[in-house]
Amino acid sequence: MLQELYQPNKEFAKNARIKNMCEYNELVDAANEDYEGFWGAFANEKIDWFEPFTNVLNETNAPFVKWFEGGKLNVAHQCIDRHIESRKNKAAIIFEGDRGDKQIITYLELYYQVNKFANLLKEDFGVKKGDRVVIYMPMIPEAAYAMLACARIGAIHSIVFGGFSAEALRDRINDAEAKVVITADGAYRKTKPYMLKPVVDEALAEGNSPVEKVLVVERNNEDLEWVAGRDYSYNELIKDKSPECPAEPMDSEDPLFLLYTSGSTGKPKGVQHNQAGYILWAQMTMEWVFDVKENDTYWCTADIGWITGHTYIVYGPLAMGATTVMFEGVITYPDAGRPWKMVEEYKINQFYTAPTAIRVLHKTGENEPAKYDISSLKVLGTVGEPIDPPAWKWYYEEVGQSKCAIVDTYWQTETGGHIVSPLPGATPIKPACATLPLPGIIGEILDPETGRKVGAGESGYMCVTRPWPSMIRGVWGDPERFIKSYFGDVKKDGKAVYFTGDGAVYGENGYITITGRTDDVINVSGHRMGTAEVEAAIKKHWNVAEVAVVGKPHEIKGEGIFAYIVLKSDEGVADEVEEVKAINNIIKKEIGNIAVCDDMVFAPGLPKTRSGKIMRRILRSIAKGEPITQDISTLEDPSVVEKIENMVKGV
Ligand code: WT7
Repeated sequence: MLQELYQPNKEFAKNARIKNMCEYNELVDAANEDYEGFWGAFANEKIDWFEPFTNVLNETNAPFVKWFEGGKLNVAHQCIDRHIESRKNKAAIIFEGDRGDKQIITYLELYYQVNKFANLLKEDFGVKKGDRVVIYMPMIPEAAYAMLACARIGAIHSIVFGGFSAEALRDRINDAEAKVVITADGAYRKTKPYMLKPVVDEALAEGNSPVEKVLVVERNNEDLEWVAGRDYSYNELIKDKSPECPAEPMDSEDPLFLLYTSGSTGKPKGVQHNQAGYILWAQMTMEWVFDVKENDTYWCTADIGWITGHTYIVYGPLAMGATTVMFEGVITYPDAGRPWKMVEEYKINQFYTAPTAIRVLHKTGENEPAKYDISSLKVLGTVGEPIDPPAWKWYYEEVGQSKCAIVDTYWQTETGGHIVSPLPGATPIKPACATLPLPGIIGEILDPETGRKVGAGESGYMCVTRPWPSMIRGVWGDPERFIKSYFGDVKKDGKAVYFTGDGAVYGENGYITITGRTDDVINVSGHRMGTAEVEAAIKKHWNVAEVAVVGKPHEIKGEGIFAYIVLKSDEGVADEVEEVKAINNIIKKEIGNIAVCDDMVFAPGLPKTRSGKIMRRILRSIAKGEPITQDISTLEDPSVVEKIENMVKGV
C-alpha cells in the first residue's frame, strides 16, 4: 500500500528553489534568529517599491499589527507593470472557456485591459481609493481584470462567489457598503448559459442599497433587464477608455480586499487583507511551494470567489510573472478526462486542486489520466480539507506518475497564503499530511489549556505564534470580532496567539497533520460553512421550532451537512419529502446551493444540557453512526437521544 514517506524527486530537486532539508532548515533558522531581518530582506528583494519601507514590523497595537510601514507600492504594478520589460509577450493568463473557447492574454494585453478597466471605474463610476467594489462574476478573464483594476486605483474589492444567493450577496454588499457591483450577464456551465445579473437585481431590489452603479460584462448575451441610470454595459463603456492609467501609490497597510468567510457564530465576516504583506507572501509561496519556472504553465482549478482563487490564480502567479490558467468550466465535463486533456494541450506543469475534485475525478474517471500525455506535470497540489489516503494514492500514482511531489497545502482565508506545506524539492512527503510550517511562519500545535507546545503524537490547537505578513488585518467594521475570533482561545506565555480554529497532531518528525475544525464550522467540498448560518436559514421556515446542524463524513464532499429539525406542529410532518424540499429551497435562497443539507431528520427534540445548550457532539456521533461516549444522564431529557438514534438508523 502506501509508504510512510516519499522522498522528493532527485532530478526535480536539483533545480528547485529550495533543494533539500538543509536549505529549508537554514531559512527556518534565519527567521528564528532575526525575524524582522528575514522578512525585511525578502520584502526588499521581491517587491518593486515606489518608496521603501522604514519599519518591518510594528506590534505596538497587537493583534493589530503593521508590516513594512512607510513603504509605498501598488499591487497591480507588482503583478503587471514590472513584468512588461522582460515578459511583455509572455502569456499571463490562459483562459479556457466552458465550451472549449480559448484566449491567451499576454502581460502587455493584461496591462492594457486592466488600465482600461481602471479608467472606466474612475471616470464613469467615480470609484476612488478606499471605495468598496463587489465582484460577482463567473470565471472569465474580466474577473481578474476587475480585481487588478481595483488594486490599481486603490479600491477595495470584495468578491462574492457566484454560487451564493441574492440574500447572501445582499448581506455582503451591505456589510461592505459597496458603491459598485461588477457582474456578468452570466456564463456557461456544461455548454448551457446560466445567469448572474438577475441575482444582483434581486439583491439590490429592496432599496436602501449602498450600490450606485452596476457594471455588466456581457459574456453569454442572454436577455437582461437593465435598470436605467444604474446598470451599464462593460462592453460598451470599455471601448473608448485609455489603455494608460497611473498606478495609485498605496501604503503597505492600506486594505487590498475583503473576502467574506464563515465563522462559528453569526454572519459571515469580512476578512481584510492589506497590500504589501499579502502580495509578498502570495509571491513567495508561489515560488517556494509550486516552484514555478519561467517557461512553466500553472493551473489552479479554484474559483476566484474563494481565497485560493485570489492568491493562487490571480495575485500569486502574476506577482511572480508566471502563466496562470483560468478555467470557466466543470472539470468532469464532458467527461472526467477534461483536466488531463487540458494538461496535455497546455503542457501544464503545476496542477492545484481540492480533495473533493480529486475524489470525483478518481471515482468517475480512474483510468482517464493514462489516456493523455500528462508527462509535463511536475508538482501537484491539494488544498481546502484533509485528503484521504485512497484519493492521495491515485493522485500520486496515476496523475503524478509516481514522480511528482504532492504539496498538501494547509492554510485559510485568514492566512492569505499557505502556512504549512511541503516544499516539492525538499520535504519528504507523507500521504495526507501537510508536513512542516513554511519558513517564516511560526506554526505550532499548542495545548489550549496551558499554551504549551504539545509533543510527538499529541494533539492540540493549530496556532501561529508570531504575526506574519499575509495575516488577516481585521474583520471589516468589527475590531472586537477580530480579536474574539482569532486571539481569544489560546495564550502562549501569557500572550494571545493566532488560533486557526483547527485541531492538529504532531508526528514523530515534527510533521503536522491537520485533524479538522474544533469549532462549529463544517468543511463542505473544501468550502467553509458555519453551522449557525445554515441553522438561521432553516429557522426561516414557518414550521421549524428548533434546529441543530452538524457535519457528517461524505464520500465526495469530505463533509456533508446533517440537520436535526424540531417542527412546531405536533402532528409531525405530513409529507417529509415536501418538507425537506421546502427547507432546502429556503437554504438555497438564503445562502446558495452549496449549503443544501445532505440529511435531515425531524427529531422529537434536541439533546440539551439543563442550561439549554445543545450537545452537538452527541448529534455528531449519531450522524456518524458512532456509539455515544458522552454522559447523557445530565441532559434535560436523556430519552431524546435514543429516539433520535433510532430515527437516524432508519434514515
Ligand atoms: C479551512 C480553511 C485554504 C484555502 C481553501 C479553504 C481546512 C485547508 C487544508 C489542508 C486539511 C485544510 C481547514 C481550514 N483546510 N487546507 N491542506 N488539510 N484541512 O479556505 O474556506 O478559509 O477554509 O480549510 O479546516 O481552517 P477556507
